[in-house]
Amino acid sequence: MRVLVVGNGGREHAICWKINQSILVEKLFCIPGNAGIQEIAECVDFSIDDIQAITGFAKDNAIDLTIIGPEIPLVLGLADSLKKEGLKVFGPDKEAAKFEGSKAYSKDFMVKYNIPTAQYGVFTNTDNAIHALGRFDIPIVVKADGLAAGKGVLICESKVEAEEAIIEIMQKRQFGSAGDQIVIEEFLTGTEASLLCFVDGNNIIPMESARDYKKAYDGDKGLNTGGMGCFSPNPIYTDRLKAYIDNHIISNIRTGLKEENIDFRGVLFIGLMIENDQAKVLEFNVRFGDPETQVILPRLESDLVEIMMKVVEGKLQESDLVWSVKEAVAVVIASGGYPNNYEKGKIINGLDKIDDDIMLFHAGTILKDGKVVTNGGRVMAVACIEENVEKARNKIYNNIGNIIFDNMQYRTDIAKLSDD
Ligand code: AMP
Ligand code: GLY
Repeated sequence: MRVLVVGNGGREHAICWKINQSILVEKLFCIPGNAGIQEIAECVDFSIDDIQAITGFAKDNAIDLTIIGPEIPLVLGLADSLKKEGLKVFGPDKEAAKFEGSKAYSKDFMVKYNIPTAQYGVFTNTDNAIHALGRFDIPIVVKADGLAAGKGVLICESKVEAEEAIIEIMQKRQFGSAGDQIVIEEFLTGTEASLLCFVDGNNIIPMESARDYKKAYDGDKGLNTGGMGCFSPNPIYTDRLKAYIDNHIISNIRTGLKEENIDFRGVLFIGLMIENDQAKVLEFNVRFGDPETQVILPRLESDLVEIMMKVVEGKLQESDLVWSVKEAVAVVIASGGYPNNYEKGKIINGLDKIDDDIMLFHAGTILKDGKVVTNGGRVMAVACIEENVEKARNKIYNNIGNIIFDNMQYRTDIAKLSDD
């Protein structure tokens, strides 16, 4: 098979790494890829939002399966465009991608189909939003409705702060048109878990659980990021919780998709807040998580391409998902300043000084004059799969100091279970 992966993050590097192990694959392409992906796939330099160029490439190169990694091309309708050309695609179409493209749409779906979630209101008018703050206890969660690279959620410790957040998003347009509409939400307490599910239009099959670290700094301080580290499995995901999620969340999502006639094929990512073996849904994403993928795919023993083809064909029940009992951890190295402004173009040294059992999933990296240099906020994930999380994390932190670039930052408390 000739396979194309769209994206340039650590997630896409992990997807390419796993796809490369499939006996079904004869040639792997990536648009646009990064310095790490370049070592295992032929990279083609189109922008991920250039739907026409990507579709043309897939058609001209007789691609048998395109896997869309990031949310932007999904929300823009890349899957629709590829399907129109008769091409096979892993990733939902534009309509189904609304689960990530609009938080208000997702929340309304959750309420309509009895999926537990935080109380909320949706607003398109600043005054109405500010007025409604009286209905919420503090802290108050203010969210831009549209895509904001994981940064559009502000947790406000006072009503004044919430008012400022509303003005920042709706009037000063901090997140552009993503803030034309906002969701104001009740603050939920508990522990977070990420549950990624394969969905084939009918069946919803969860992968192994993971725990993401969203905040920029140790001790969950600083701004929300796309994710600074991860581990799998998430110990909070007990059998009792799994039963609760199956009965109250997954089965209701299945009913909702059917009733609304939504043909979702790809990965549905359910962000959960857990307390006392019960869960509420924080958000849906319509793709693999980043950095969740960097810890989940190393634990998948089955052939990913075979599973993806079953998803595309609507025959997921025929595939056998086998997971390793080993545990995985990933720590993200980011450019100083991320998630705010940061510099690019820093030479990354020491990549050859890493032990063989460490996986480096590149994200914001690019090759320049034969050197790997930084090219984004999250630069790479240093990952390891071991007998248990503790061993994996020790190996990572023993190695991570060998990687050096100007102004780098990473959290030192990823997968430190005593902090939970
Ligand atoms: P979201 O993009 O909606 O998942 O939100 C990003 C992050 O903000 C989540 O992973 C949580 O850490 C936090 N968050 C979002 N909504 C809430 C909520 N209602 N209560 C508490 N924390 C939240
Ligand atoms: N790590 C969270 C996300 O991929 O949205």
